[in-house]
Amino acid sequence: MTAVSIQAVSQVFNPGHTGEVTALSDVDLTVAPGEFVSLIGPSGCGKSTLLRLIADLITPTSGTVEVNGKPAGKARLDQEYGIAFQQAGLFEWRTVQRNVELPLELRGQSRAERRSRTAEMLELVGLADFARHYPAQLSGGMQQRVAIARALAVHPPLLLMDEPFGALDEMTRERLQTELLAICAKTGTSTIFVTHSISEAVFLSNRVVVMSPRPGRITATVDIDLPSPRDEAVRQSPAFFDAVTTVRKALRAAA
Ligand SMILES: Nc1ncnc2c1ncn2[C@@H]1O[C@H](COP(=O)(O)OP(=O)(O)O)[C@@H](O)[C@H]1O
Ligand SMILES: [Mg+2]
Repeated sequence: MTAVSIQAVSQVFNPGHTGEVTALSDVDLTVAPGEFVSLIGPSGCGKSTLLRLIADLITPTSGTVEVNGKPAGKARLDQEYGIAFQQAGLFEWRTVQRNVELPLELRGQSRAERRSRTAEMLELVGLADFARHYPAQLSGGMQQRVAIARALAVHPPLLLMDEPFGALDEMTRERLQTELLAICAKTGTSTIFVTHSISEAVFLSNRVVVMSPRPGRITATVDIDLPSPRDEAVRQSPAFFDAVTTVRKALRAAA
């Protein structure tokens, strides 16, 4: 079974009207269980659109999207994926604990089940001591970790992330990259990660998918053969810089 299977997907917004935009054209993408795939490309090339199609937040103009062997709509109802955006999107009036519990409430889990799962998730993201805090009391990096905990709370097989670290300073960002990989390794979650940072894509991924400017197409796929676990030594290695160069060339070729 594949985690994600996208076949011949095109997305046209406002078809037949002024303002018609072909956001994606004939996209094929398969993601294996446990695989970490980054989508990279210039602003407006359709990265977020592709993620929203996988999440069934929009329906493709043509083509098919399957998650965990199910049509995207069914996968959404079954909570087969968690999602995290650039803005953590936490509810300010809910504590950290109650933010992470939200998807479990939607699932109708008992209070006891929610409490134990939330404790497990906050442990995983290193925020066990902050359960009773409110989002405004946390740093940006901590808020993103809460968002990741919430996205993973139902133990989905797939995590969708749209520039989740884009608003963070470089040091925090690198620390969260390492944490995210540790979490994914531990949970076995497949991840699709949107970024426009080449080094971030290379550091995190098994595969980097390069997209062209609008209408977005996949123009190259770069396999990243760096050792695991990825650590600071990897970030400084010649192989890392070689991979960054390969992705940069692929991006230039697509432009
Ligand atoms: N709901 C929408 N209606 C009309 N156009 C849209 C809509 N969503 C995205 N677009 C357009 O589709 C293109 C791709 O957008 P997006 O997927 O957000 O790009 P990216 O995330 O790569 O920056 C852009 O030209 C954008 O303006
Ligand atoms: Mg976007």
